[in-house]
Amino acid sequence: MITHADALEQAALDTDIFSSRTSLGISQRVLQIAAEVFPDGMPDRQAPTIMNSDPPEHASKRTLVNRAFTPRAVQAYAPVIREIVSELLDEIAQRGKADIASEFSQHVSARVIAHLLGMSQDFPRQLADFIDARLALYNNTLDESAILRYAYLHKTYCDQLLAHIQTKLANPAKDLTSAFAAAYTERYGPCENLSAELFPIMISVVLGGQETTANLISNVIHQLASRPELGEMLDANPESIPLLVEESIRHRPPVLGTYRVATRETTIQGVTIPAGGRIKMAWSSGSRDSNRFPNPDEFHPNRPNGRSHLSFGSGIHFCVGAPLARLEAEIAVEQVLCRLPSLRLDPHGLIERTDNPLVWGLTRLEVIWETT
Ligand code: HEM
Repeated sequence: MITHADALEQAALDTDIFSSRTSLGISQRVLQIAAEVFPDGMPDRQAPTIMNSDPPEHASKRTLVNRAFTPRAVQAYAPVIREIVSELLDEIAQRGKADIASEFSQHVSARVIAHLLGMSQDFPRQLADFIDARLALYNNTLDESAILRYAYLHKTYCDQLLAHIQTKLANPAKDLTSAFAAAYTERYGPCENLSAELFPIMISVVLGGQETTANLISNVIHQLASRPELGEMLDANPESIPLLVEESIRHRPPVLGTYRVATRETTIQGVTIPAGGRIKMAWSSGSRDSNRFPNPDEFHPNRPNGRSHLSFGSGIHFCVGAPLARLEAEIAVEQVLCRLPSLRLDPHGLIERTDNPLVWGLTRLEVIWETT
């Protein structure tokens, strides 16, 4: 496991030795059992996702999505994100209490991703199940029947995603699915099986962007509800919202780690790793490295180097969706402060952490606020 900020950055740069082939890997055992459902392999095992590609293949995939997620491009999504957040708050604002994790945060990121990709209104609800099924397959301790159940569910959603891509190829529109298709054709010329080429790109965006951002939003709201002085500070200085969001990403990273595999024997952080060794890139530890962040376990929204954390990874795989995640969380905080006054934890409510060793998130966050 690599835990120091400098060593993580060094390993992230050295893609010759630290390969991302298994960045988020499904074990051989799970793959063998799931072969009953996917006899030709999972669609994104035939062509790796962006996250699981090494150079030079990585660059060709990444270029296709980069344009859609530059800070400038992402700013154009602000009005639609505001609308989605506002509609979701309309549903709960008068109640004075809610489970913010399941009734708000999950829906913000699912609706935003579905909207950007031009998916139907129904898809956001299914996205959460899709991601649950997919994440469950990363768990090598499940028994055979559970693996098969999740594999069948996963197949249903993969088929829907493929069907969605095919629809957009037949009827391009103003959405990112059509934009990825156009970018692919512009770069490589016509392709016989374009939907298969686009699938790993789409799944990278869907998997990368939904649960992570939902957890970010819940984590920030958890801070706000636990420490009312933060809300007061932000009411007086709304321009500090981005700093608060960034400190939450550093302090409670929605992605705790991903993996690399050593292509040859190497030594890092004083430890020799054999060729083929699997290494955990503990991004969350890097973000709490005391050599970089004094008192790293404390939450300080005004850290001078708040952005030099590692919670979005580092190097060529640095999170492509970082500007979008930040914007969604900033808009969510802005509107929650305004629409849910005196927000605090429900003294009789529950808070539940996501049961996944790679994730810092909340499945339940019960809060209360004042209503007029
Ligand atoms: C707070 C929210 C998020 C966190 C903490 C996060 C975290 C990360 C991390 C740590 C990586 C690097 C993985 C590695 O090097 O092995 C990564 C890559 C990636 N993320 Fe995010 N992510 C977030 C939001 C998003 C969003 C909103 C999207 C898309 C809309 C997205 C799409 C991706 C993609 C496609 C990659 C792969 C990039 C590459 O390999 O070049 N992420 N993310």
